[in-house]
Amino acid sequence: MPVRPTDAVGATPAGAALGEEILRLKRERGAILLAHYYQDPEIQDLADFVGDSLELARAAQRAQAKVIVFCGVRFMAEVAKILNPAAEVLIPDLEAGCSLEESCPPEAYARWRAEHPGAFAATYINCSAAVKALSDVIVTSSSAERILRQVPADTAILFAPDRHLGAYLERKLGRTMVLWPGTCIVHEQFSEKALAELKTLHPGALVAAHPECPEAILRQADHVGSTTSILRYVQQSPAAEFLIATEPGIIHQMERLAPGKRFIPVPGGAGECGCNVCPHMRRNTLENLHACLRDGGPRLELPEDLRVAARKPLERMLEMAAAPSP
Ligand code: 13P
Ligand code: SF4
Repeated sequence: MPVRPTDAVGATPAGAALGEEILRLKRERGAILLAHYYQDPEIQDLADFVGDSLELARAAQRAQAKVIVFCGVRFMAEVAKILNPAAEVLIPDLEAGCSLEESCPPEAYARWRAEHPGAFAATYINCSAAVKALSDVIVTSSSAERILRQVPADTAILFAPDRHLGAYLERKLGRTMVLWPGTCIVHEQFSEKALAELKTLHPGALVAAHPECPEAILRQADHVGSTTSILRYVQQSPAAEFLIATEPGIIHQMERLAPGKRFIPVPGGAGECGCNVCPHMRRNTLENLHACLRDGGPRLELPEDLRVAARKPLERMLEMAAAPSP
C-alpha cells in the first residue's frame, strides 16, 4: 500500500527548515524520494512514496524521474538501479547494509547452490546483487508465498538467506525447503518473554508480526505479514490496541492511517542495545539526505554485467507476484 507523504516537514523548527531545503533540492534535481517504513518519521514525511520492498521495487521501476533518492538500505537502492538503469540512484549512506545480506556472501552461496544441482533457487530480496544474479527468482515477504506456490511440488527449493522466513513459508506451504542459516539482527531479537508479558498487560491487544521473526514470536501473532500487510491489518481490524513485532519505524504510518488506535512496539531481547531499531535503516538522517541531494552523491553504481544478470530473477519476481494464485 503506497502512502502519500504528509505536508509536515520536520518535527522541530530546524528539522522543518532542513525539510524545506530537501524538498527544494529534490525539485531542482528532478528527483523522486522513495522510502521504506523503517526510516525515521521525518524522512517518511518527505518521501514521494513509502512502501514495503515489493512496492518500492515496483515504484523504482516505473519512476520517470532523472534521479531516485532511496531512503532504505543498500540492497533496496541496488534493486532500484537494476530495474531502472536510466535513473541516477542516490542513497544517503552507502554503508546502510543488512544483516541478512551480510550472512550470505556470493562465493559461499554459489558453493551451496552447486551442492544442490537441479534445485530451484528462490532468494529473499534482502541479499546482494551478486547473490540475486545467482538465483532463479527473488521473493519479498509479501510475494514469497504466491511465488513459491508456482514451483512444481517435485522440485527441490533452496531458500536463502532468512531461515525464519524460510521456516514460516515451509509451514504455510506444507513443504520443506533447503534453508540458508541467515537471520535479521532486529527480528531475531524480539523477546518472547516480553511479548507474553505485554499480552497479559494488554489482554485486548492483537499481535502483528513480520515473518522474519522466530517461530516463538510468530506463534503468538494474530497476523503475520510484510510491513504493508501489517499496516493494512491494523487499519482494517476493529481492535483498538496492537502489539507490533517489527521495526517500530512503521508505527509512524500506523498512527497516521489508523488514528485513535494504540500501537505498542514489542521490545528486543538482551542484545547490545536491547532495542528493536534497525541500525542499518537508521543510518539515513535528514542531514545526510540533505547532503546527498546537495552533492548528488553517494551514487549507487553497479557493473553492467552484474546489473543485467540480477535483473532476470527480479523481473521473474515481478511477473510471478502478479500471476493469479495457483
Ligand atoms: P518488507 O518487504 O516487509 O517491507 O521487509 C523489509 C525488511 O527489510 C524487513 O526487515
Ligand atoms: Fe535487514 Fe533486518 Fe534491517 Fe530489514 S530490519 S534491513 S532484514 S537488518
